[in-house]
Amino acid sequence: MPEDLAIRIEDLSISYKVSLEAKRTLKNAVMRASLKQKERTRTIEAVKHLTLDIPHGSVVGIVGSNGAGKSTLMRCIAGILSPTEGRVIVNGKISTLLALGVGFNPALSGRDNIILGGLASGLTMEQISSKTDEIADFAALPDGFIDLPVRTYSSGMYGRLSFAVAVSMTPDILLLDEALSAGDAAFKEKSFERMRQLCAEARTILIVSHALATVTDLCDTAIWMHKGQMLAHGKPEEIVDDYLKFLNVGSLPSSYEDM
Ligand SMILES: Nc1ncnc2c1ncn2[C@@H]1O[C@H](COP(=O)(O)OP(=O)(O)O)[C@@H](O)[C@H]1O
Ligand SMILES: [Mg+2]
Repeated sequence: MPEDLAIRIEDLSISYKVSLEAKRTLKNAVMRASLKQKERTRTIEAVKHLTLDIPHGSVVGIVGSNGAGKSTLMRCIAGILSPTEGRVIVNGKISTLLALGVGFNPALSGRDNIILGGLASGLTMEQISSKTDEIADFAALPDGFIDLPVRTYSSGMYGRLSFAVAVSMTPDILLLDEALSAGDAAFKEKSFERMRQLCAEARTILIVSHALATVTDLCDTAIWMHKGQMLAHGKPEEIVDDYLKFLNVGSLPSSYEDM
């Protein structure tokens, strides 16, 4: 793929198989097997034939209703889910915040979770130790909490620490799914500041957000996902405008009627 691309998505489709059996027990599975019955399943096509190139240094906002496939797409780019069809090629070191605190081990302290996250991101112990205080500071944890198990944290502390860890790893590509909703107004402002800094450093960032102002303020491109498809791709102001109209009216703008 071309050097200037961070992510290339080629005709990507992702489906989930969900069981339609009322009770998914071992006994039922054995009974079905003995009767040579197949488990009844339904396929949910969460992402359908999506093709997209994302150049290095772009800041992409993804908007769309619940169930549109935004999180599924992010999980696939992160390598957590495999494509059902098509492929995703990623060029660079990824750091993800796909759900607040996912990836934290609840029994370990904040400090140890930072170390684990850092090691997973390919940092050395030396690099991690130099970042730990900065991360704890950014997350505004009350005194001493950094050395307590994260299961003792409030959800706010949890959210702030996960955001602080994700943005501190100086990744080439940063994936944030609804992450900017963590914390109070002061923390949000600080998060925005950090995001702007990452943008200025020309990191590639993908943000899923229901806060549409985030998309128009931070992003240089926006994508509208609708029922697994990429409905539109373009200037954030225009996409957000169309999406807002859709939210208000409840039906797609006439230019999208063929979708
Ligand atoms: N783990 C899963 N198992 C089965 N279906 C799922 C799973 N995760 C998401 N889905 C389904 O896939 C579709 C897209 O979901 P999702 O990617 O979470 O959308 P969004 O993030 O835009 O709200 C929805 O219909 C949802 O119900
Ligand atoms: Mg989601």
